Amino acid sequence: MSNTRVARLGELIRTHHPCVVLTGAGISTESGIPDFRSPTGIWAQYDPMEYATISAFRRDPVKVWEFYALRFEVLTRAQPNAGHLALAELERRGLVRAVVTQNIDALHDRAGSQDVVEVHGSIRSASCLACGTRVPLEDVVAALESTPAPPCPQCGEILKPDVVMFGELLPVDAIDRASALAREAGVLLVVGSTLEVYPVAAVPEETLAAGGSLAIVNRGSTPYDRRAVICIDGSAGETLAGLAEALC
Ligand code: APR
Repeated sequence: MSNTRVARLGELIRTHHPCVVLTGAGISTESGIPDFRSPTGIWAQYDPMEYATISAFRRDPVKVWEFYALRFEVLTRAQPNAGHLALAELERRGLVRAVVTQNIDALHDRAGSQDVVEVHGSIRSASCLACGTRVPLEDVVAALESTPAPPCPQCGEILKPDVVMFGELLPVDAIDRASALAREAGVLLVVGSTLEVYPVAAVPEETLAAGGSLAIVNRGSTPYDRRAVICIDGSAGETLAGLAEALC
């Protein structure tokens, strides 16, 4: 990690209010949750067409739950890391306005961030597509101990995790709020995302079109790197902890 770049990022945030943060799977790898598109990522092992589309779920929900049951095990054990904690601290100090996240792990919330926009849903609940019943995470986890796919307590259909699958629309309120925050941002700080999945991949475009600046902390490149004022190719946890310190 370059201290000079972290100091420059701190200066950018200090001078370009408000700072909005957009996070992806890369902020949670240091909590033990694999990302999607790295060589060791989830999609190297599982074909998203078979396990992560709404049509795959409708075709064979039990097969899709084989994948989610394993994910839930990892996601429910994970703890917020230095990166999540640093963002919560920066929000408390008035230096970060909100976090828009593609992650479903709820770790920003658990780290203490107050204003979190979850554009891909979360593991907090699962819902029945047949009768609309919503079931909290604890009940889903309890059901998974005795069955491969949790049934709806009302009608017996298999529940769907309240996460956005490929082929589904994003929750309208969340994506609208993400766009509004991006347009108002003095600086949009992207952390741990390849910025390849739309519509979220268009969020930085909104900041740039409105005259805001873009900064990126990510291992590896993104399609926006050339348009960012600062790119830091390094650990999200270490960089954000360094940023919080630099902004003291
Ligand atoms: N620090 C910084 N960057 C990291 C770290 C880390 N500790 N660990 C991983 N990264 C980087 C990876 O190198 C990669 O560039 O984070 C990025 C993660 O990108 P993706 O795996 O594509 O994850 P994301 O952008 O969140 O994916 C978007 O795709 O499949 C869907 O719904 C899923 O929300 C997800 C969406």
